[in-house]
Amino acid sequence: MNLIIFGATGTVGRLLVDQALSQGHRVTAFARRPSALKLEHRDLTRQAGDVLDRGAVADAVEGHDAVLIALGAGRKGTVRAVGTKHIVEAMQRHGVRRLVCQSTLGAGDSRAVLNFFWKRIMFGLLLRPAYADHEAQEALVRQSGLGAPMSPVSCCGNLPTTAICAGRQACPTDP
Ligand SMILES: NC(=O)c1ccc[n+]([C@@H]2O[C@H](COP(=O)([O-])OP(=O)(O)OC[C@H]3O[C@@H](n4cnc5c(N)ncnc54)[C@H](OP(=O)(O)O)[C@@H]3O)[C@@H](O)[C@H]2O)c1
Repeated sequence: MNLIIFGATGTVGRLLVDQALSQGHRVTAFARRPSALKLEHRDLTRQAGDVLDRGAVADAVEGHDAVLIALGAGRKGTVRAVGTKHIVEAMQRHGVRRLVCQSTLGAGDSRAVLNFFWKRIMFGLLLRPAYADHEAQEALVRQSGLGAPMSPVSCCGNLPTTAICAGRQACPTDP
């Protein structure tokens, strides 16, 4: 497939790029500084852009079969939700139907698995803005209608993370 990965230069995004290329997919790596991705591969294209720029996102998404989102902003930010909103809009505009969005364990349906420390101290205090960003991001993906059913699944091997899959065929770990 022809994939575009947002946040391709981050900790999670780099893994997704590696896995996608090794499985024979063509990859567009989208980030503000895609040159940070040192990997060279004939099926890898770098796309410099800011996900907060709706037009840049729309142009980048066009022509791809599936989208993977691994946007991050450390402890803070609204980039996950705003960026995901722009990506969803771009997918709807260009008829792209497969989306995998990196979220975090504890957001959305998985909140019940959090213990007191993560619920009250980490996500309740220290990582509160990032958690709110993920909650908003998950809601956008769920409301997008880009695939059903949507359920939290692990899409990143043994990383302590979950992702929402919309359009299940796009999930890298699906059989
Ligand atoms: N790493 C983990 O173990 C872990 C665990 C749980 C959840 N998560 C979640 O997974 C997501 C990814 O985590 P990560 O650790 O891989 O994050 P990260 O290393 O901070 O990477 C963030 C990525 O987002 C891109 N980005 C940020 N702002 C952007 C913008 N305005 N426009 C375009 N690209 C932008 C960055 O590239 P540029 O700066 O070049 O634009 C980078 O590629 C996060 O939402 C995080 O909360 C991660």
